[in-house]
Amino acid sequence: MKIQAVKGTRDFYPPQMAVRNFIVDGWKTASIRNGFVEYDGPIFEHLQMYQIKSGEEIVEQLFNFEDRGGRHLAIRPEITPTLARMVNQQINALPRPIKWFSVPRLCRAERPQKGRLREFFQWNIDIIDVEDVLADAEVVYCSLDYLRSLGLTRNDVVAKISSRRLLAAVLKNIGIPEARLDTLYPILDKKPKIPAEAFVEMLEKEIDDSDTVGMIVKLMDVQSVDDIPDLVELNDEEQAALDELAQVFAYLKQMGVEEYCRFDMGIVRGLAYYTGMVFEIHDAAGELRAICGGGRYDNLLSDFGGPKVTATGMGMGDAVLEILLREKGLLTDESVPVQTLDYFVACLDADLFGKALKVTAALRQQGHSANLNYKTNALKKQMKAADAMNAAKCIIIGGELKESNQLVVKDMKTGEQELIDAMTFLK
Ligand code: HAM
Repeated sequence: MKIQAVKGTRDFYPPQMAVRNFIVDGWKTASIRNGFVEYDGPIFEHLQMYQIKSGEEIVEQLFNFEDRGGRHLAIRPEITPTLARMVNQQINALPRPIKWFSVPRLCRAERPQKGRLREFFQWNIDIIDVEDVLADAEVVYCSLDYLRSLGLTRNDVVAKISSRRLLAAVLKNIGIPEARLDTLYPILDKKPKIPAEAFVEMLEKEIDDSDTVGMIVKLMDVQSVDDIPDLVELNDEEQAALDELAQVFAYLKQMGVEEYCRFDMGIVRGLAYYTGMVFEIHDAAGELRAICGGGRYDNLLSDFGGPKVTATGMGMGDAVLEILLREKGLLTDESVPVQTLDYFVACLDADLFGKALKVTAALRQQGHSANLNYKTNALKKQMKAADAMNAAKCIIIGGELKESNQLVVKDMKTGEQELIDAMTFLK
């Protein structure tokens, strides 16, 4: 029986692994450049953790199981609940504000499609205990900082920003009870991904009044904050939410990325825990799924039994990003850094193999990367092997110098050769 890889998973052969490392290394560098510190958690947690506040969509996509002790567990579909749990656990010991990043491997039982897999890597950055929307702006800025460092410009990507707080206030204003908001958000989040009629149909299932449905459809199409007062008369809460959003944009302008950012009422986010600014970065052409998404979630830590501490952050998957970078020509097999070798030790005579092994081990001991063929063969074959391993230098043992204690060291780029005493390496 031939066993296949599970649908929606990927095998990382060395070339694909090099691409993954290129992406992950970039995420780590951008995090550190922006002052975030790395953390990680376990890959499975109690099932309940995702049922509390992540929302129905995530719960439907869980890979969950019962362990031998009868505990209900789930493989992590996101790391935000783990982060909330970890921070709560040490809330009094951790210096605040907290700026943490992580690159977890996540699993979601989604229907695999372009940019959506069942197992993927996701860069997370989160800022905890900063009430000022400056933290929200920092999260958007850092996400853009990474994308810009890859060569993406405002012609390639756009950060669409909105506010759950504003949306909640407007929905309440038009008569939606607060208790209904949590079921409404995932529907509103689907709007850009489904046909207009299907969206209306979904709303009609939740809301009896057709005028209210019509109002929501209009609201979701608003392209500028200035148009909101035309739709509803602003109350204090809506005004406060609008002012807060304006402040996010003001910070982003000060940080010089305003041309990448625009308001979009249609950004709702599927996850249940967001409470304030929400955003997604999309390809400018709007052809792919979101490159990343996040926002403020001020109640998650207290929902998990901790104190009321504010939080904001985002997650960026590797799948859509890779598609976009390839489409833009910013990621080719040649542009990914390849693994190199400091020394390849070529042994031309079987009876000198022990010496080759000694030299190789000595080089490794000195901190160089060194490799050799496990069999002795002709120089041409050895050079081919050295090239395949991207060796910078090749040490040739045997051949004409078989009887001497000297070795040839060949620079693989220039072809230059020098004679060196074997003891140089063996001392
Ligand atoms: P999310 O919107 O569920 O948010 O995921 C964020 C990003 O992860 C997406 O924009 C996408 O790039 C990637 N992603 C999600 N699902 C898949 C999938 N099945 N295959 C490939 N990529 C995927 C969260 O996960 C939040 N926890 C982010 C966050 C952190 N919010 C605050 N802090």
